[in-house]
Amino acid sequence: MSSNTSSPIVVAMDFDNAKACLDLASRLSPQYCRLKVGKELFTSCGPQIVETLMQKGFDIFLDLKFHDIPNTTAKAVKAAADLGVWMVNVHASGGERMMLAAREILDQSSGQKPLLIAVTVLTSMEQSDLLGVGVAYPIDNQVERLAGLAHYCGLDGIVCSAREAKQMRQQFDQNFCLVTPGIRMADSPADDQRRTLTPVQAMQEGSSYLVIGRPITGAENPAQACENIFNELVQNGFGN
Ligand code: C5P
Repeated sequence: MSSNTSSPIVVAMDFDNAKACLDLASRLSPQYCRLKVGKELFTSCGPQIVETLMQKGFDIFLDLKFHDIPNTTAKAVKAAADLGVWMVNVHASGGERMMLAAREILDQSSGQKPLLIAVTVLTSMEQSDLLGVGVAYPIDNQVERLAGLAHYCGLDGIVCSAREAKQMRQQFDQNFCLVTPGIRMADSPADDQRRTLTPVQAMQEGSSYLVIGRPITGAENPAQACENIFNELVQNGFGN
C-alpha cells in the first residue's frame, strides 16, 4: 500500500487512553515515523483511535497478533485491511492453513493490502516456557521453523528480536520484512528489555522496521528524539 514515509521507525503507542496517545501523536511527525497500535490501546479505544491517527497522516501497524481458526483470523485480517492499516500481524503458531487463509483473503480483496507479518516465538518466552506448551525444540530452531512457515505461506515478513535479524536476513531475501523491537540508544536505559541494539546496529543486522517505544514516548521531547534517530539512520545510509 502507499506510504507516508520512508522512515523505518515505528513508535509503539503503548497507552491505555486516547488522550495520552493523541497528545503524543500531535508531537510526532508522520514524516519521521509510523505508529504501532497494540492490544491495550485498541481494546481501550477501539478502531476509532486507528482512524484518528491515520487522519493525522500516520501509517499504522495494528499489532493485535491474531491467532484463531483460519476463517476467523482471515476475517480479522480483512477487517484490519478495510480499516486501512499499513501493517497487521498474526501468530505463525496458528499454522499453515491459518496463514494461507489470511494471505488469500488479502490477495482476493480489491482494496489496499496491509503488510501481513507473523510473530514467531514471543521474545518473552524461554526454553522452559516452550517446554510448558509441549515444544521440545531449542528456541532458535522453533523461530527458524515458524519463520520458514510464514515465508512459505506468502507472508510479508516476521517480528523478531533485532539480535535474530542477521540470522534471519541470511535465510530470507531483502523483500521479507524483519520488524524488530528491543531497540535502545547507546545512552538510554534498557528498561525491561534484555538484549538490545541501537537503531543503526539493528539496521546493519538486516532489520526492515524498528519498533521503538519508551526511548521516544518517554523522552522529554519525543519529536526531537524521533527526528534525531531518523537523522542518525539517514547519516548511516538507512531511510531518506
Ligand atoms: O518501550 P519499548 O521500546 O521497549 O517498546 C517495545 C514495543 O515492542 C512494545 O510495544 C512491546 O510490546 C513490543 N514488543 C517487544 N518485543 C517483542 C514484540 C513486541 O518489545 N518481541
